[in-house]
Amino acid sequence: MVIVLGVESTAHTFGIGIVSDEPRILADSRFNYVPARGGIHPREAADSFIKNAPSVLREALSQAGLSIDSIDVVAVALGPGLGPCLRVGATIARALSIYYSKPLTPVNHAVAHIEIGRMLTDARDPLVVYISGGNTVITAKQGGRYRVFGETLDIALGNFMDALVRELGLAPPYVVGGIHAIDRCSEGGRYVELPYVVKGQDTSYSGLLTAALRAYRSGVRVEDICFSAREVAYSSLVEVAERGLAQLGKTEILLVGGVAASRYLVEKFKALAEYRGVELYVVPPRYAVDNGVMIAWTGMLMFKYGVTIEPENAVVKQRWRLDAVDIYW
Ligand code: FE2
Repeated sequence: MVIVLGVESTAHTFGIGIVSDEPRILADSRFNYVPARGGIHPREAADSFIKNAPSVLREALSQAGLSIDSIDVVAVALGPGLGPCLRVGATIARALSIYYSKPLTPVNHAVAHIEIGRMLTDARDPLVVYISGGNTVITAKQGGRYRVFGETLDIALGNFMDALVRELGLAPPYVVGGIHAIDRCSEGGRYVELPYVVKGQDTSYSGLLTAALRAYRSGVRVEDICFSAREVAYSSLVEVAERGLAQLGKTEILLVGGVAASRYLVEKFKALAEYRGVELYVVPPRYAVDNGVMIAWTGMLMFKYGVTIEPENAVVKQRWRLDAVDIYW
């Protein structure tokens, strides 16, 4: 049996996960940085990670009932993400690897979001819709890589949703009881026209954000703004996903990333899946958001195919693209 410990620290979560190759999740310990106001402040987040990392690590080992000696491999998310945050995880992973003489495996955070979705659902070879605060990507495996068939041309879908409710004075907190502020606010809303943008196979949300806030300032009801902005943003995503399906002939869709926890978005994708006669899979909400387990699991896959890195070469890659990673499985 191989046991991998994974370290996640790309944005607002410092997480340690431990998995075995059965596969089984042995531990899942997390610390979440919550900014006092506004968006994420990278240096503040990194400082809070440094303070909390020892207890997160201890908690993970105690959940698994293991000492560090029983860990075979250390995996770490080296990117993409925020520099100061990434460096905390990389430093800890390098230290563990060197001090305890464990092989170190580099993991791409985006690949990890996809692989945890595949591990926890029955999806085999899906069209993947990866939607989070930092990413909006339509991708599928082809020729040994996750190729990108569509993406946002500017801000990510989750970033758009957060920025809108923040500017409307409805957040933070962005998500309460698993429901995003944009969903709460959309109740009772009516559709008002906002710019719908699809360019080729790509979406775009920054113009929509500007237009929605302009409509708000001109007196349009806040519930109408939320309802309409959400409708336009989600519909354009579904449209580019449908194009990807048609182009690639895939028979499965897999939703991963933090925004995959949005029930209303899942409803829209259910309708698309029914219409096209394909299966829809959605990563469980607990693993839709950032966590150490997905890093450990992807590290396991990488390690099984011989991918390791010398600690001195394990430097962070803030803009490490999904389609730059060789996928051997
Ligand atoms: Fe993420």
